[in-house]
Amino acid sequence: MARPVIELRGVAKLYGTGESLVRAVDGVDLVVERGDYVAVMGASGSGKSTLMNIIGCLDAPSRGRYLLDGVDVRRLDERRQAIIRNRKIGFVFQSFNLIPRTTATRNVELPMAYARVAAAERRQRALAALAQVGLSDRAGHLPSQLSGGQQQRVAIARAIATDPVLLLADEPTGALDSRSTDEVLALFDRLNAAGRTLVVITHEEEVAAHAKRVLRMQDGTVRSDRRAAAVAGPPPVLRAAG
Ligand SMILES: Nc1ncnc2c1ncn2[C@@H]1O[C@H](COP(=O)(O)OP(=O)(O)OP(=O)(O)O)[C@@H](O)[C@H]1O
Ligand SMILES: [Mg+2]
Repeated sequence: MARPVIELRGVAKLYGTGESLVRAVDGVDLVVERGDYVAVMGASGSGKSTLMNIIGCLDAPSRGRYLLDGVDVRRLDERRQAIIRNRKIGFVFQSFNLIPRTTATRNVELPMAYARVAAAERRQRALAALAQVGLSDRAGHLPSQLSGGQQQRVAIARAIATDPVLLLADEPTGALDSRSTDEVLALFDRLNAAGRTLVVITHEEEVAAHAKRVLRMQDGTVRSDRRAAAVAGPPPVLRAAG
């Protein structure tokens, strides 16, 4: 069996002390296998972003163990964590986080520049990623010349151009209208069908409905963890529902 993309064991994140102690994440065990598509839901303050920051190596857990694609990230120094993060994870945020005065192509190239990919290859991979998200005809556009949905697709192209093992998205459709939301969800479906592992934090049931597995968080813990019945196409492994 291939190693899991994510393996969390007893992971906790505590803030403050004594009276003001907050258990933002409070003992989470989670294994995400390659090719899965997981939605993380839960009320405001339930710990979703804290968990995402840990999974994304943007923040260290106070307790517990985290293996990202088999690598124990807590054992790495900050520089190595940044390298692992850049190599293994593609991030998508609610607010796109594109650089304003820079073309779509250059935006997609940026993480590869940090990863020291040679310029010609960078350009080629950026254009291929833009083609994958259906934006070949917008490669030279600035973010301000693109719709919200198109900007998010550029951000997704940027996230996949490095060929990460994990695509990690925090409220990716939170700033989009329903048509752009549909475009992004269709794109996620295609990426997952092609084998990409996705973890998506969302408030929207519509988004979660596209995932294969839905986690619901409450007070820093995983309250439920359900695998959806297959809807479109056969799953890689047939499982009993429930
Ligand atoms: N830096 C911090 N210091 C202290 N408490 C924090 C810090 N960051 C988060 N918290 C607390 O941890 C808990 C979980 O926060 P988190 O941001 O993970 O929630 P969330 O599920 O992402 O909420 P939302 O849906 O509103 O984005 C909250 O009670 C929050 O107030
Ligand atoms: Mg949040």
